[in-house]
Amino acid sequence: MVSVELAGLKLKNPVMTASGTFGYGSEFLPYTDLEKLGAIVVKGLSLNPRQGNPGPRIVETPCGMLNAIGLQNVGVDAFVKEKLPKLKGIKTQIIANIFGETVEDYMEVAKRLGDSVSAIEINISCPNVKKGGIVFGTDPNEAFKVVSAVKSSTTLPVITKLSPNVTDIKVMVKAVEEAGTDAISLINTITGMAIDVDKRRPVLATITGGLSGPAIKPIAVRMVWQAAQVAKVPLIGIGGIVTAKDALEFIIAGAKAVQVGTANFMDPDSAVKVAEGIEEYVRKNKTSVKELTGSLRV
Ligand SMILES: Cc1cc2nc3c(=O)[nH]c(=O)nc-3n(C[C@H](O)[C@H](O)[C@H](O)COP(=O)(O)O)c2cc1C
Repeated sequence: MVSVELAGLKLKNPVMTASGTFGYGSEFLPYTDLEKLGAIVVKGLSLNPRQGNPGPRIVETPCGMLNAIGLQNVGVDAFVKEKLPKLKGIKTQIIANIFGETVEDYMEVAKRLGDSVSAIEINISCPNVKKGGIVFGTDPNEAFKVVSAVKSSTTLPVITKLSPNVTDIKVMVKAVEEAGTDAISLINTITGMAIDVDKRRPVLATITGGLSGPAIKPIAVRMVWQAAQVAKVPLIGIGGIVTAKDALEFIIAGAKAVQVGTANFMDPDSAVKVAEGIEEYVRKNKTSVKELTGSLRV
């Protein structure tokens, strides 16, 4: 009763790992059982390898962390050739998270993935350099263009990952749905900042970073609930999930599946524990994830 179907993908349970918090999956093989997860979402992939930002690029905050990794990754070709084969034979869905600086970049990354993975998750929280720094994820017209372009470049199911750094998430939901996205995941990190008061300097080399972890969960639950008011495609809830109860909040608010991110840094087995907890809840309450999705009583 915990299996779900999402964007044509069959998931044995609704729990995935969140991009950027679980490497390329294989690094976690010694620490957790990947086959107990609905899916794993790998680190964001770009056309060319990237070194990311200079340090310091991570700082712990109360109930969370700020990161400014800068999308460091091996590039799509090295992922397909070197990283993906290490997951061969592992019975779980593998979702590639992708990003680019231009619409053409996104299209090319999607094309190069071919059908090597189960689905593509588009990270639209990146600067559009051609347009002078507009972030695709905060402008509905730009988001529409990226999602349409990726849809035309792949036959795989496409999930669009939304940024929380917008005034009205419903506008973004409608834009990416119109562009043909098969599912929507939310939220990515919330822009934040920390200051070293002795040095009177920002802690992160990039000054600002993305806040994640339990501190953002109430915001994320609120945004999933708001998105669920208008969304026609399935939603995947993300933000501060540590326990099964956290995940159930997202499901009851309207998510069909969830992703576990920052919690993986505290315990690499977190996502599996969340999946087991959901199973126990479903069994005890004689219900199903399908029945629980969007079952909020207001
Ligand atoms: C260190 C780090 C790296 C991340 N890298 C990516 C990334 O490459 N692509 C992406 O879409 N999201 C990335 N994220 C965002 C997470 O996938 C997730 O949306 C966010 O952290 C909120 O979930 P959480 O509170 O469970 O961590 C990253 C987050 C962290 C903490």
